[in-house]
Formats: sequence, structure tokens, C-alpha cells
Amino acid sequence: MPPRRVIIDTDPGIDDAQAILFAFLCGQFQIDAVTCVFGNVPVDLAALNALRLIELADRPEVPVYLGAPEPLLRRRLRFAPMVHGEDGLGNVDWPRPAGRPAPGYAPVELARRALEAPGQIAVLTLGPLTNIALAMRLDPRFAGAVKEIIAMGGTALGPGNVSAVASANIMNDPEAAKVVYGAGVPLTMVGLDVTKRVRITPERRDRMKAAGTRIAEFVYRITGFYAGAYLKEGIAGFPVHDLVVMAYALRPDLFEVKRLPVDVETEGALTDGMTVVDFRPFTDRPANVTVCLNADADGILDWYERVITSAGERDSR
Ligand code: RIB
Ligand code: CA
Repeated sequence: MPPRRVIIDTDPGIDDAQAILFAFLCGQFQIDAVTCVFGNVPVDLAALNALRLIELADRPEVPVYLGAPEPLLRRRLRFAPMVHGEDGLGNVDWPRPAGRPAPGYAPVELARRALEAPGQIAVLTLGPLTNIALAMRLDPRFAGAVKEIIAMGGTALGPGNVSAVASANIMNDPEAAKVVYGAGVPLTMVGLDVTKRVRITPERRDRMKAAGTRIAEFVYRITGFYAGAYLKEGIAGFPVHDLVVMAYALRPDLFEVKRLPVDVETEGALTDGMTVVDFRPFTDRPANVTVCLNADADGILDWYERVITSAGERDSR
């Protein structure tokens, strides 16, 4: 199969880091660019971390673009140092990258690149949907030009992870999510229904350390903080939310999905940021989203472990 041509939009983030490394190292993507957005960390730190990952994967030719520093309308920023560390990568003090963000603004680049190759580029989103909504507003042809959008965020049947009903990537910019969900673009929601079930156990994490490669060592070190954050919640084993997007992009056969009408709630003390999925359906709205409802977690994690532990040279660090 020819590599899948993609742009990754991201807010790294420890699970973003795992997803991005997998994407670079699995050999099945052509990654045209990495666009950054605020989310787990401020956008300039997200870009710095993306550059770190690109250098680790030894792909410095891939451009990293700075994107939206804040939501479309809201002024409240909710970074997540308690989950990802102050630096977004588990406070392991990994060396600063030599590279710098490319000139250009992420929403502009998303629109430009999609329009230059209509129907060819899928956008894989791992953070709030602000850059994507801005690209849609910037150029109304963008939605028709992207091949598809596969987005980590939302939840169909289970609870949220930042409120009773909302996931972080939607709650960080519900208005942007509403624009993207309503755009008529081929959209897949890789939400908490599946991502929270794809968990790396302490045993699997230890096996990665034992591989002894620089990449495996990096993953082992950054996930220490993340594993600790979940352990504080009583969860031994941490979900690799964003990685699941990469798995879906390459192996949709590992997933159970359903086409359903979905909209995003942008109001209400209890409902703000909710992805409202109409299963019955109660409305006559057309199905606009492919919703992931289940996944082969072991299949995804075995594959991830193989890629991470076999990448790069052995390193004694
Ligand atoms: O809810 C999980 C999502 O929020 C992941 O993308 C994580 O990186 C954070 O952005
Ligand atoms: Ca993320």
C-alpha cells in the first residue's frame, strides 16, 4: 500500500508524542507537515515539542507550523500540566531541538496544502479543532479539498474526562469543534469510548524500556509522569488517546464504527463541550460523523510496541 498522505495537527502532550513517533516510525505515512495548536500546553511549547519529536524520528525536513494560541471565541485556557508536566513531555528535560518552526501560520498552511492537492491529504487531529475551524473559515474550499479528518475528541456513550460529558479536545474549543462537525467534511470521531480502553500497562511500559533504543528510552521516560497522573486517579495503565487516531488511519478494520448524526453543545453549565450523538435517531439530521465505538486494543498496542521497540539503534543512555 502506498503511504497515507497526512498533516498532523497537535498539542504535544505525552500521548501526542507517542502518536507522532509512531506515525513517523511505522513507515506507512507520508507526513507533509505538523501543525500546532494550544491545548495541553501553550502553542509555542507545543511547537517546540513537535520539533523535539521530529528530531528524535530523524525527519527534520518535515515543517512544523505554529497555529492558534487560543480558542476561537473564549479567553479561558486550560493547559494540562498535571497530566503532561509543565513542559508537556513529562518534565524529563530532553535536549532542546536545533530546529525552529517554519515561517507560516498553521491554518493558512492547512488550507494552502489541502487546496494544492485536493482529495489527497487526510488531516489527523490530536488537539482542539481551532486550526481546522480557522482553515475552514479562511477558505471555504478547504473542507472540500481535504480527503478526510480523523479527530481525537468527544465521547458518544461514556463520560467525559474534563466534565461529566466533555472531552478535553472539545472542551478546549467547543465553537471550533462545532464548526468542524458541521462542515460536511468526511469526519471520524476517535473519542473516549475507544481511546480510554487502549491502555499501556506497567508491564508493557517496562518491556519498552528493556528494548534499549533511544526512542524506547524516550517513550519510557516521558510516560513516567503520565502514568503517575493516571495512577493518582486509581488507574494503573494509561490511555494512549492520540495514538488511536494513527491506528484508525491505517487499520480501520481494527475498529467498530457507526455513521451517526453528531453535534457539539456550546452552552450550559453541565452540557458545554458535549458531543451529542443521536443513536435512535430522534432528529432527521443526516449522519455526519463516523463514530468509533470499539477497537481491538491489544492489536493496536502490540503494533505500537513493535514499532517503538524496533526503531533506531541500541543506545546505552
Ligand atoms: O482527552 C484526551 C486528549 O486531550 C488527548 O488529545 C490529549 O493529548 C489531550 O489533548
Ligand atoms: Ca493531544
